[in-house]
Amino acid sequence: MNKTQESIEDSSQWLVPNYGRFAIAPERGAGTELWDRDGKRYLDFGSGVAVCSLGHCHPAMIDAIGKQASTLIHCSNLYHVEQQNVLARLLTETVMQQPGRCFFCNSGTEANEALIKLAKRYGQGFATPRTRILTFTKGFHGRTTGGMSATAQEKIRQGFGSLLAGFEYLPFNDVDALEEAMDDTVAAVLLEPVQGEGGVHIATPKFLKAARELTLQHGALLFFDEVQSGMGRCGDLAGWRAIPGVGSDIVPDGVSWAKGLGGGFPIGAIWIANREVDSNDGAQSLSLLLGPGTHGSTFGGSPLACAVAMTVVRTIIMENLCAHATTLGTKIVEEIQSWRHHAIRDVRGLGFLIGIELNVAAMEPSTLWKSSGKTPAIWVVSALAEKGLLTVPAGPDVVRLLPPLVVTEAEAIEALGILRDVLFDLLPSNFLIA
Ligand SMILES: Cc1ncc(COP(=O)(O)O)c(C=O)c1O
Repeated sequence: MNKTQESIEDSSQWLVPNYGRFAIAPERGAGTELWDRDGKRYLDFGSGVAVCSLGHCHPAMIDAIGKQASTLIHCSNLYHVEQQNVLARLLTETVMQQPGRCFFCNSGTEANEALIKLAKRYGQGFATPRTRILTFTKGFHGRTTGGMSATAQEKIRQGFGSLLAGFEYLPFNDVDALEEAMDDTVAAVLLEPVQGEGGVHIATPKFLKAARELTLQHGALLFFDEVQSGMGRCGDLAGWRAIPGVGSDIVPDGVSWAKGLGGGFPIGAIWIANREVDSNDGAQSLSLLLGPGTHGSTFGGSPLACAVAMTVVRTIIMENLCAHATTLGTKIVEEIQSWRHHAIRDVRGLGFLIGIELNVAAMEPSTLWKSSGKTPAIWVVSALAEKGLLTVPAGPDVVRLLPPLVVTEAEAIEALGILRDVLFDLLPSNFLIA
């Protein structure tokens, strides 16, 4: 038995079986490369699901972790944590470029929980409380009760009975449906500017503009879940600003981050605009609404987590990684499109959040896939991993490429070579689109 098999057996004995895991047991990483316990090398175009923004074991992160760990790892939020102040200022001035305040937690779902609590608190400030929160089909906002309630995917919510009341799910990018649903009972609209887990769907500028205008018109809040799309992944520290035609015109009232913010060190955050509000407890600004005692986290915003996140964001800026994601991400998409391969229905993405939608009907003749019993996406992801390329499925028929922001052009060429080989093994060249 090799070491990977050993890990698989141990996992089945000791771990709750809540994850569907691939037969890979990573041991160490450097940049875009990852090696498993048996010494097999992979190119990691999954980045721990859009987490390792600086790749594996970036020297700046190692240095930041070492320095802060030898100074102060944790202290309570009963005290003033200077690293939180510095990181909040960086996120506010550099990412948001608007006045506001931050709260720190440990994950994406926790960040969304904080936004949901903010929406609920905001809603309670009205004579007739606003109780509705609008979210969108194919969205994903996390696995806590609030995160699941906000997620318009039955497969995420099923089996848990009744969840939080007040959530309504609308079709994504449908301005008419949003217009129809909006009234003065809506507390907030929550959306991912680029949906990741739901299959890489980019919000249209028209939809984002309508969401901003309608929420302002009806006195509701607009929140962006940038847990996956933020921090450079889409080619801008603010993912929505990378969407062609959006620019800096649209500013939400709240944003959630996690994943790439810590580059692998757990941290979540929200930013809240200094928007004026009326509230029962006299708060003048939205960013003051979560007052003392309303919310908290023991671990949230530790000196160590904030010091690492600061380093990650500064490195993304200093190494010009947003522009790199835009340039190389575009080349990757164009290269895959140029193959005109029958198994691909669509290739879309922004920066390094790329989705390859498989053409399931076209894959039918392939006995390789049909006999496997796997979804098309899982089959392709497994076949790529076999040949040394790690990618991530998004639903049954989309394969995501999420390389670290530091990926080199040579690594991209190597990864594309593997992808091409797998697709042409699946369906040979007589299946090219004419
Ligand atoms: C857009 C979005 N929101 C929230 C989450 C949940 O984040 P976490 O797993 O850190 O709780 C995810 C995770 O994939 C995500 O993609």
